[in-house]
Amino acid sequence: MQGRNGILQLVLLLGLELGLEGALPPPCDSQIYCSGELLRRVQMAKLYRDDKHFVDMPLNTTPDQVLKDFSTLLSSSGGYISRDLLKSFVMEHFNDPGQEMETWIPEDWRDSPKFLQNILDPKLRAWAKDLHNLWKKLGRKMKLEVGRQPDRYSLLYAAQPFIVPGGRFIEFYYWDSFWVIQGLLLSEMPQTVKGMLQNFLDIVERYGHIPNGGRVYYLQRSQPPLLTLMMDRYLAYTNDTDFLRASLGTLHRELEFWRHNRSVNISHKGASYTLNRYHVPYGGPRPESYSKDQELAELLPEDARESLWAELKAGAESGWDFSSRWFVGSNYLLDIKTSQVVPVDLNAFLCQAEGLLAAFYATLGNTSMAQVYEDARARRKAAMEALLWNETLGAWFDFNLESRQQNHAFYPTNLSPLWAGCFSDPAVVIKNVKYLEDNKILTYKHGIPTSLQISGQQWDFPNAWAPLQDLVVKGLAESNSRQAQEMAFQLAQNWIRTNFAVYQKNKVMYEKYDINMDSGEPGGGGEYEVQEGFGWTNGVALKFLNQYGDRLTSGSGSTMFGTSCLLLALLLLGLLC
Ligand SMILES: *[C@@H]1O[C@H](CO)[C@@H](O)[C@H](O)[C@H]1NC(C)=O
Ligand SMILES: *[C@@H]1O[C@H](CO)[C@@H](O)[C@H](O)[C@H]1NC(C)=O
Ligand SMILES: *[C@@H]1O[C@H](CO)[C@@H](O)[C@H](O)[C@H]1NC(C)=O
Ligand SMILES: *[C@@H]1O[C@H](CO)[C@@H](O)[C@H](O)[C@H]1NC(C)=O
Ligand SMILES: *[C@@H]1O[C@H](CO)[C@@H](O)[C@H](O)[C@H]1NC(C)=O
Repeated sequence: MQGRNGILQLVLLLGLELGLEGALPPPCDSQIYCSGELLRRVQMAKLYRDDKHFVDMPLNTTPDQVLKDFSTLLSSSGGYISRDLLKSFVMEHFNDPGQEMETWIPEDWRDSPKFLQNILDPKLRAWAKDLHNLWKKLGRKMKLEVGRQPDRYSLLYAAQPFIVPGGRFIEFYYWDSFWVIQGLLLSEMPQTVKGMLQNFLDIVERYGHIPNGGRVYYLQRSQPPLLTLMMDRYLAYTNDTDFLRASLGTLHRELEFWRHNRSVNISHKGASYTLNRYHVPYGGPRPESYSKDQELAELLPEDARESLWAELKAGAESGWDFSSRWFVGSNYLLDIKTSQVVPVDLNAFLCQAEGLLAAFYATLGNTSMAQVYEDARARRKAAMEALLWNETLGAWFDFNLESRQQNHAFYPTNLSPLWAGCFSDPAVVIKNVKYLEDNKILTYKHGIPTSLQISGQQWDFPNAWAPLQDLVVKGLAESNSRQAQEMAFQLAQNWIRTNFAVYQKNKVMYEKYDINMDSGEPGGGGEYEVQEGFGWTNGVALKFLNQYGDRLTSGSGSTMFGTSCLLLALLLLGLLC
């Protein structure tokens, strides 16, 4: 009896300490890259400007040897290790980051993809060519030694070469790849796309889900689930049914992860619904942002820290790290409660994925599985209509599990079900248009803002992000409403002008833009410097340039057009008088 009580108490204490119910063993047990004393000491000493630097460094010997030497150093120094000593320990046992990969020029890259010819404005066409050229800068291939001695690297081995976002993001990222892949297909590079898909499929087979990015320290969390959608875009281009047949079970497995590990039951007005949320049941600071997470947590009592860290990880899983969208009751990161939000976009993505899997299974003749996914999609649509849709406001909204209310703040993701084709009544589109007008979104001339909230976080005002432009534009463009289609064009035109003007000035594509400035500027805020490259920005720009190549202007052209109109009008007026 005594013994059992003791164990029970221990379990309870551990549970309390973690602040998490039913905490699981973390998916990464590396005592160097994911947790442990060495990681803590190095990151808290701030040996490098960005915490990501250290956890990206390969070991030059076995992890056991590194840990043994570190423990010797600890005991010989009586627990106190000076910054210099720590630095020389790291220099001795680690190599510089980035060397485990080499730049790779995609084999299917070619000089003049067809879509360039459809871009009428010569300045935009020349710029589109530059963007197409950028794939050669963003291609990476892993050295074989990463596969041979994986425990010396934080990098997750990927057999096929791939495109990275750029800047500090030197490995593959999950949701970025969706927009990168669409750009690659416009650039007529299906082989590169297939390789990237194969890497993701291999990763699902190895780990059961796709981590945030290609590093062991990202394994605890995923990112917006877009693998099935990537496969769909690839299939639309290639009709590669053999590849689909070989991959279908793995696509199913990835969706099972979301169904099993990330769903939540909600009862509402006597009915019961199941939707998804971002939720990471692991504590501890994020290894790649360790000191920031630690310092933030020190503002809280000790027993609240583990759950703060879990909520930060869930925020990172959402792709929106960070945003006031996840904060409860204030504008401060300390109040983050990502797991209490049922996000519109996550459910829209999964809704489309379920529809696609139903279609894939049907194509390959598996009617029972096709039915399983049809049913899942129908249930999700009903749940989204009941909980997320707001008829008065004309859009969908995140649902908060604590307040049991919708969050009526503006986010571009509020229209993502239109983008995903996840609605029943075609009349929603007119309501969506009115919603954008009511929120004066067209008055932001340089792009659709991420939110209307200024919080200092990078996924808030005044930043704008490429994927969020697509989430609004595509849905409107593909609707049957002329007015919505025109609005889509206008929004695409605004975004292209911003991207183009900043590129003219700096010769760089950015991960995000500040739309409050005169002509748009690289974005700011958040945890790190704005990054250059940039995979998804290039992908979305190429998409808009392809779709509206016959109408888009680079800016100067249309201003001249506007000025000449005015002159002509004045001239006519003069003639009349
Ligand atoms: C793919 O197959 C479908 C149906 O067989 C056909 O309509 C379509 O044109 C094909 N697409 C390509 C890119 O080959
Ligand atoms: C998903 O849940 C299963 C069982 O509940 C668990 O074993 C697995 O580690 C979870 N996956 C992640 C990435 O947390
Ligand atoms: C939701 O309810 C179903 C049916 O009762 C149950 O099987 C499932 O485990 C529940 N999911 C969660 C996340 O609680
Ligand atoms: C359909 O797929 C499921 C899951 O992979 C499998 O168990 C079943 O045997 C398949 N049925 C047919 C008719 O292929
Ligand atoms: C929709 O928004 C209106 C106006 O804010 C609010 O009164 C209503 O409760 C909302 N409906 C739902 C289903 O949340």
